[in-house]
Amino acid sequence: MSELSQEVVRVEDIVKDFRPGLGLKKKRVLHGISFSVRRGEIFGFVGPNGAGKTTTLKILMGLIFATSGKASILGHDIGESSFRRHIGYLPEGPYFYDYLTGREFLRFYAKLCGVPRAQIAERVTNLLEAVGLAHAGDERLRNYSKGMLQRIGIGQALVHDPQVLFLDEPMSGLDPIGRKEIRDLIWQFRDRGKTIFMTTHILSDVEMLCDSVAIIVKGKIQYQGAPKDFLKNERHSAEIVFAGLEKSIQAQIAERFQASVRDSDEHSQFGVAEDQVDDVLRALLEKGAQVVSVTPRRATLEMIFLNAVQEGGR
Ligand SMILES: Nc1ncnc2c1ncn2[C@@H]1O[C@H](COP(=O)(O)OP(=O)(O)O)[C@@H](O)[C@H]1O
Ligand SMILES: [Mg+2]
Repeated sequence: MSELSQEVVRVEDIVKDFRPGLGLKKKRVLHGISFSVRRGEIFGFVGPNGAGKTTTLKILMGLIFATSGKASILGHDIGESSFRRHIGYLPEGPYFYDYLTGREFLRFYAKLCGVPRAQIAERVTNLLEAVGLAHAGDERLRNYSKGMLQRIGIGQALVHDPQVLFLDEPMSGLDPIGRKEIRDLIWQFRDRGKTIFMTTHILSDVEMLCDSVAIIVKGKIQYQGAPKDFLKNERHSAEIVFAGLEKSIQAQIAERFQASVRDSDEHSQFGVAEDQVDDVLRALLEKGAQVVSVTPRRATLEMIFLNAVQEGGR
């Protein structure tokens, strides 16, 4: 396959301004963002609340229009409509008709998507099975838990067997079991060769699920690539907790090794680069400190994300 056909989503220099009201100053929410998603991957569009994730997704879905820039899905400009039957979409906080049963809800969408009449019943039964709701198909949505609603929402997005699934915050508001169920669904979908584009602000889910991420903070992309490459660039560090050292000597050692310092009543703590741990320990012991503990600290996506947030805020 060519490089181009491997690209399922391509976003180029998208800008979005909102005008809060007549005469009011426009607010720039997306500052020229670019990224791409490859076929068959689980792509995480990651960022804190208000970063612009849902806005980007709405632009891709054709629900709102970009101020400038362009984007394509499956090689088609998003202004076209023919490709839309190959994509599924779970909006953020979707609205459900809570007097419908799960089965009726899916039937409604199957009709809407033009599934042939003779196939609807079977398709809906298979979908209920696929999202783990076979037992609850005839219950009303108002009796569904948050996790069940997310799953029926994903069922809705899968009704026409799409190539690409767009999920806006599929994990939000779910307990650990609910999150695991959604993860399993996403993995199953990927194992069938499909592509997933999901937004999230939950980093543990990103670390577990995503093959590739783009991190967006305040409407700007801060990073795109594999989550693990992102982590590799971070310097590993360690925490050394110790006691019994005079403050002036402590300060000297801290300066020599560029250690970050935290003091409590009982103990002091140095944060140092991993490859300097031996030297710092030697210096501390030489001056008569008692070392209480040494703990390696792996940079997590969480920390990196926080750094990106701080840098984005400057
Ligand atoms: N229709 C709108 N009018 C004005 N501002 C909006 C509108 N929709 C979103 N915003 C603003 O755009 C920013 C990004 O929002 P959103 O895309 O929902 O972020 P995220 O999904 O990452 O939490 C927020 O500051 C939000 O208040
Ligand atoms: Mg959102």
